[in-house]
Amino acid sequence: MLSLAFFATIFSASTAYAVDVSIALTAPSSAVSISSSHISFSIEQDRWTDWVGATSRNEFYFNVLQNLAGLAGEPPRFRIGADSEDRTNFQPGLKVTETVFAPPTAATPFPEAESVVVGQAFYQAAQNLPPGTHVTWGVNLKEENLTAAFLEAQAIVEAFEAFPASLDLTLDAVEIGNEADLYVNGGFRPSPFTIAEYVQQWETFAANVSAAAKITPTSATRFWGGAFGGSDHSASGFSPQGLFANGILNSTQGKEISTISQHLYSGSGLNCGLTSTCIQNLMSKAFIRGNLSAFIPDIASVKAQNLDYVMGETNSYFDHGGPNISDSAGAAVWAVDYVFFASQLGISRLYFHEGIGYKYNFVQPITLNINVDTAAPQVAPPHVQPAYYAAIITAEAIGNSGTTSVIELTLNSSTLSGYALYNSGKLSKALFINSQGFFTTTTTSRPSVHLDLGFTSTAGAPTKITVKSLDIAHADDKSGLTWGGQTYETSDGKVSGSVSVEQGTVQGGVDILATQVVLVTFES
Ligand SMILES: *[C@@H]1O[C@H](CO)[C@@H](O)[C@H](O)[C@H]1NC(C)=O
Ligand SMILES: *[C@@H]1O[C@H](CO)[C@@H](O)[C@H](O)[C@H]1NC(C)=O
Ligand SMILES: *[C@@H]1O[C@H](CO)[C@@H](O)[C@H](O)[C@H]1NC(C)=O
Ligand SMILES: *[C@@H]1O[C@H](CO)[C@@H](O)[C@H](O)[C@H]1NC(C)=O
Ligand SMILES: *[C@@H]1O[C@H](CO)[C@@H](O)[C@H](O)[C@H]1NC(C)=O
Ligand SMILES: *[C@@H]1O[C@H](CO)[C@@H](O)[C@H](O)[C@H]1NC(C)=O
Repeated sequence: MLSLAFFATIFSASTAYAVDVSIALTAPSSAVSISSSHISFSIEQDRWTDWVGATSRNEFYFNVLQNLAGLAGEPPRFRIGADSEDRTNFQPGLKVTETVFAPPTAATPFPEAESVVVGQAFYQAAQNLPPGTHVTWGVNLKEENLTAAFLEAQAIVEAFEAFPASLDLTLDAVEIGNEADLYVNGGFRPSPFTIAEYVQQWETFAANVSAAAKITPTSATRFWGGAFGGSDHSASGFSPQGLFANGILNSTQGKEISTISQHLYSGSGLNCGLTSTCIQNLMSKAFIRGNLSAFIPDIASVKAQNLDYVMGETNSYFDHGGPNISDSAGAAVWAVDYVFFASQLGISRLYFHEGIGYKYNFVQPITLNINVDTAAPQVAPPHVQPAYYAAIITAEAIGNSGTTSVIELTLNSSTLSGYALYNSGKLSKALFINSQGFFTTTTTSRPSVHLDLGFTSTAGAPTKITVKSLDIAHADDKSGLTWGGQTYETSDGKVSGSVSVEQGTVQGGVDILATQVVLVTFES
């Protein structure tokens, strides 16, 4: 409460207007179930062992993952691979990953490795993930080297087979190749490279990888299909529709696909204008809905085949993020609305892409020696970035019941979104996001919106609320956020400070500042 009063004072919030909120006490039939690992991670695999630790565990990273597991009842899932999965070769017995990197530039302070050679130890490092983690791993398709894909798949499966049962690590799937729709760009396939040709190549590799990884149509480990960089949303191009129209599911290995993965970034964080403009665009309700809604036909075609649909690689702006944008507090606000809106479209999980030193990371798991935005010399110990708070809020809002469902609330506002959350069909919480930017450069006082809470029926309606808020001084800040008064910006990645929430009544409603997220818990 102290911190709320503090914020209200220094930003002299003024309530500009009120918005009516009408919430059903039991889950409407259109509410969708949402996984406790709805926010998951995709890791650029060139520096995979820096994330979890090679021989000994990276305690900082372990702690930030355990924070999420503690709130959600399960750790986030991992997809390991991406661009560098297609630059990886295998050398049996290799203990330390061999990588070749181009020098850093101001535009790309932390480039991806040009080549990667791994041994069994690379895959065995997954033992440093929190117990209960599910993993999808990628193998090389781009270089058309069946031996590489075969040896990688074999080493992946051998690693998981050897992990002690107590680690409870599950290999969900193998992905063959990353963003094959873009292979022609680097001259890796003759142009044009059609979806029909791709499906044939996938089937050849999948036949081999399936045998190496002991995949069957009913095994615990299956294939992720797709993983394209873009989608043309049609049967004739790189899209789920194109995969199906070209018969991938009729092939022997096609029947081993459990999940279709697509990739999505919101655009470029360069040349998008002032930093505040770029952050405001990213956060805005219409932008988020526009970007995700483009995938409605893709999702429908996947669901029609009874397959799972994930965003297997996503984040704010491509090329590792926009400087001073993707690592801003506004990115946390963006991510919360992005993942909950995605749930409404039938996206069952989003894997946020992360690489060492990337601007859009939720977490920087090791000490960095140059600034992620400018490449200027600067030592930064392991730390979380603002977007990490979105993962915390999402994990806490969904919780560990395993029976959570969510529906977007209809709010008459272009800057305010809201979601109602149900446990076993009974209203438990509501999450509100105010995406109006409040920046260090904003010269007017900080606006606030009053939410008038109401229910669609009265019998058994709760009367009391607890309000927990993500407090952000400015959307363009890169640190200093607090969630319920607590910080995760600590040297060990564990939460610090005591929880502060506000007790209120349904009748009294809730105020939400520009650039704020609040979680309302209902009590009778
Ligand atoms: C094919 O892959 C194997 C194993 O990764 C590697 O040793 C070999 O050099 C690769 N061949 C080519 C032509 O890249
Ligand atoms: C898979 O490819 C490897 C390397 O080319 C080969 O040794 C192996 O026999 C192949 N396995 C199958 C089942 O095709
Ligand atoms: C796949 O098989 C189904 C019947 O099993 C058939 O209806 C469909 O046309 C086939 N698709 C392609 C692209 O061959
Ligand atoms: C996301 O939406 C913005 C605003 O409409 C648009 O400029 C951008 O191109 C979209 N990105 C994608 C990948 O569709
Ligand atoms: C990002 O912010 C830093 C200061 O923190 C500034 O030096 C740099 O020019 C900014 N980069 C861009 C692209 O705005
Ligand atoms: C929606 O909000 C606008 C102002 O932002 C207002 O003019 C309009 O009457 C509202 N509509 C409803 C249905 O409340």
